Amino acid sequence: MADDIATLRKLTLAGVSQSGDLRALEALRVNVLGKAGVLTQMLKELGKTEPAMRKLRGAALNQLRDDLTAAIELRRAALEDVAIAQRLEAERMDVTLPPLLETPGTLHPIHRTIEEMVAIFGAMGFALAEGPDIESDWHNFSALNIPAHHPARDDHDTFYLPSAPGKPARVLRTHTSPVQIRTMLTQKPPIRVIVPGRTFRADHDATHSPMFHQCEALVIDRNITLGHLKGCIIDFLRAFFGLSSLPVRFRASYFPFTEPSMEVDIGWNRKTGELGAGGDWLEILGSGMVHPNVLGNVGLDAREWQGFAFGMGVERITMLKYGMPDLRPFYDSDLRWLRQYGFSALNPVMLHEGGVA
Ligand code: DAH
Repeated sequence: MADDIATLRKLTLAGVSQSGDLRALEALRVNVLGKAGVLTQMLKELGKTEPAMRKLRGAALNQLRDDLTAAIELRRAALEDVAIAQRLEAERMDVTLPPLLETPGTLHPIHRTIEEMVAIFGAMGFALAEGPDIESDWHNFSALNIPAHHPARDDHDTFYLPSAPGKPARVLRTHTSPVQIRTMLTQKPPIRVIVPGRTFRADHDATHSPMFHQCEALVIDRNITLGHLKGCIIDFLRAFFGLSSLPVRFRASYFPFTEPSMEVDIGWNRKTGELGAGGDWLEILGSGMVHPNVLGNVGLDAREWQGFAFGMGVERITMLKYGMPDLRPFYDSDLRWLRQYGFSALNPVMLHEGGVA
């Protein structure tokens, strides 16, 4: 009479021990103990059993259900242990293996040029100064002897920021020269600083970008002359381009914040692009003796203090040095270009033969 119960016990226990993984075990549990499982069905049909047998059979079925449930739980725990052990094995890490060689990154040419400028001017005793990208109109223009409505403002294609009523006008700085003002307001002379940094003008073509970089230099001391300016610039250019005999020409020019002002040209060959030879001249930077009005604007007595300043485009000198025809790839983040023109971070900046002691 209880044959079916004994058979179900035997088959199910055999199935439990043969279940190789948790899914198989769960399928077996559902088949036997699930809502429509064999044992559940037998329990439901208990009512049909003749009353004399019902109690016995009920007790036997309940016992079977408890035994099978316990056997399945036991097996489940064992299989879970196996699963965890397998995962640990599969995800094992050998921390002693050498690292995978990834393509090393490179330093952006702009970054490299600024590092070189810092090294060269650093060797000449210059310190580094910085200023904000968003400038007051006063720092960017007025204090530099460029009052409102001065025609020199037109050259700058300025990005003006919306200004609150009654608040001074603000701009994205159009050059690094405002940091001259900030430095003279916060440091006592003698001053010797360079200011590499971002600058902004509403201009965009193969050689102009709305965001670009300049490097400014400022020297304030007693008895500073044009001779210091010339020597400093010639030394820098020859060191930077690595050409100890690079021709350098000073040409009278105009900037509101310097007097006299000079544009500086270097010798090159217009046809081949080669620097240092060829009889052509290429304009490379603006310079001059700091204008007495500028000194006055920051409270320095022009009879006691003199100085010189210059400013140059970082992209421009980088393109010239490495023969890059177009400025736009500087900002495209094209990995192929960066790998071609980038510099190894492990390659330190060297001071070239160009005349820096
Ligand atoms: N600020 C000028 C410009 O952006 C460059 C310049 C010229 C800077 C002469 C100077 C200087 O310090 O003396 O065009």
